[in-house]
Amino acid sequence: MKSGVIIDKKYTKPILDWMLHEDNIEKYLDLEPPHQGGRVKARTNIDLIPEDLLDANFPFGDFITLKIMLLETFDLPINLPIDDNYGYLIASYWDGHSTHMHKDPNVNDNGPDESKHEEVDDIYQIKDKIHCRFNIQIQKAEEGGNPINNGEEIYVEENEPWMVLAGLYEHGSSRVVGDKNRLMCSFGHYLPTELAIKRGWYSR
Ligand SMILES: [Fe+2]
Repeated sequence: MKSGVIIDKKYTKPILDWMLHEDNIEKYLDLEPPHQGGRVKARTNIDLIPEDLLDANFPFGDFITLKIMLLETFDLPINLPIDDNYGYLIASYWDGHSTHMHKDPNVNDNGPDESKHEEVDDIYQIKDKIHCRFNIQIQKAEEGGNPINNGEEIYVEENEPWMVLAGLYEHGSSRVVGDKNRLMCSFGHYLPTELAIKRGWYSR
């Protein structure tokens, strides 16, 4: 769901500047999953403050401030537990890329800390928490790159945050078109199921 709010660019500029600086994307966004049509590179679990990003002067302070602003935009507590699978991530998507429709697990089955992995029958089953992501495109592609939530493409502006109940419904993104890559920040949290029900986002 869209927020209808545009985050002032002064808050995202330090992150954008870092991503556009020299070859930072090629050097530090180490995950390159095979997706349809075009390239994508991501760096996951930034909330764990990795050493190499510290050394590379990644603007952690601005990044965390942005996460707080996004949670406040949706009137949610800023101390929601962080998703342990991918946590907070940044990503770059190039011409031709689209994200296939998928759900993200509601439990930690794949995160970097194996001791935190949860043994369940169905990683998409909803018990006490729902994997929820707070996303913002700090640079939009010339065309496309819009979120598709539950079958519906949602047009979002640059710096307009949206929320996806990633463990509840299928989601993806429309094809990126043009030479300008789409740059996104995505903050993953576990939303307590009771809170989702209270807000009218989920019913049993
Ligand atoms: Fe997802």
